[in-house]
Amino acid sequence: MASSLLSFASASPLALLDPLKVNPRIGASTFLGKNFIKAKPFTRTSMSVAVEVSKFNELTMAPPDPILGVSEAFRADTHEMKLNLGVGAYRTEDLQPYVLDVVKKAENLMLERGENKEYLPIEGLAAFNKATAELLFGAESVVLQQQRVATVQGLSGTGSLRLAAVLIERYFPGAKVLISAPTWGNHKNIFNDAGVPWSEYRYYDPKTVGLDFDGMISDIKAAPAGSFVLLHGCAHNPTGIDPTPEQWEVIADVIQEKNHIPFFDVAYQGFASGSLDEDASSVRLFADRGMELLVAQSYSKNLGLYSERIGAINVVCSSSEVAQRVKSQLKRIARPMYSNPPIHGARIVANVVGSPDLFNEWKEEMAVMAGRIKSVRKKLYDSITEKEKTSKDWSFILKQIGMFSFTGLNKAQSENMTSKWHVYMTKDGRISLAGLSAAKCDYLADAIIDSYHYVS
Ligand SMILES: Cc1ncc(COP(=O)(O)O)c(C=O)c1O
Repeated sequence: MASSLLSFASASPLALLDPLKVNPRIGASTFLGKNFIKAKPFTRTSMSVAVEVSKFNELTMAPPDPILGVSEAFRADTHEMKLNLGVGAYRTEDLQPYVLDVVKKAENLMLERGENKEYLPIEGLAAFNKATAELLFGAESVVLQQQRVATVQGLSGTGSLRLAAVLIERYFPGAKVLISAPTWGNHKNIFNDAGVPWSEYRYYDPKTVGLDFDGMISDIKAAPAGSFVLLHGCAHNPTGIDPTPEQWEVIADVIQEKNHIPFFDVAYQGFASGSLDEDASSVRLFADRGMELLVAQSYSKNLGLYSERIGAINVVCSSSEVAQRVKSQLKRIARPMYSNPPIHGARIVANVVGSPDLFNEWKEEMAVMAGRIKSVRKKLYDSITEKEKTSKDWSFILKQIGMFSFTGLNKAQSENMTSKWHVYMTKDGRISLAGLSAAKCDYLADAIIDSYHYVS
């Protein structure tokens, strides 16, 4: 009864907040569930007191996000050795956020040109869409030459995945998305919120801390024909375990046999190996086979554009005519969601990829970032194996690639890492090596060994 708020007169403002605290000047009241209090007056003034229970009272407190919530807890910790290995964001050796030089240069170019802030078309900045598709498939690729790719700028990787999820829900009713077990925490949320059914295929083998390739293949084979198979293009999150080139061929064979639709999530192009082309090879292998596929891209990690929310969804179709229709539907999905995408990040990417000098500089900077992560990976392995006196094999740390290492620590052990050692990480045992410095490798090694051996 919103109108009851209008009848509020002389009650204390506190009465608005707590329906059981009634202004003594007004008198005894009745509190019935969601009903507001109708006061029986002691004074001559008769009034209704607006102490209605909130219309939002049924909402419970949502749990903190399993990844972003880790950073909140980290900020509250004052211990000098604290380490944030939760979120996958690149840090310098001093553990500070890093803005790439090429990004600063691209932004300067934008200022010099005095570009305007007019709305972008729904599908995004044309120069960005061209650059992003070329980066992914290769400028000379057949799919681009034949104009078979529908590319739409998205709100980073997450927003691009969400556009595709809605496309699936709308035009493939009942089709399932197969997701690796485990996967990046937000995948399930994205498909749940879009109303797309999903199930998991085996991926991680805890015995070997490696890929359960046989399990993966048999689960993909067992899925209903025409399912979407979500694959991490490179640097699988959270495990850091990627299929070998030979295994990718077998995965493509099975997907083709079953008439499934591959759906790649490419959030780390260039970050896994240090080479943009090498990290796109899985996607290109599928595209070269003439398959139809979806690919979500993100520039959060490889250009450090986390908060610019810049990415794209690409749908490779059997003909350019189908691609045009698919693109029109993606635009139709985007329009009521956010109307049109932001321009700043799109211009940065277009400027960097579009200028041969900046493009080469970017590749160098990316190689430095990927190199720093590789070197702390090696240093962590060396520290652990030097300190560790049992025969446990830690070589998985070196075999994994990308930003993350899946330590194999269970929930209780991961909790010990935080409560005893002030090392913040996700409870599935994943650590982001991008947040580790060489100087803290020894400390982290002690924490891992202690948690592994002394917490069951
Ligand atoms: C596998 C994977 N996909 C997508 C994303 C999307 O990130 P963003 O929305 O910041 O681009 C991430 C980020 O961590 C990721 O790890």
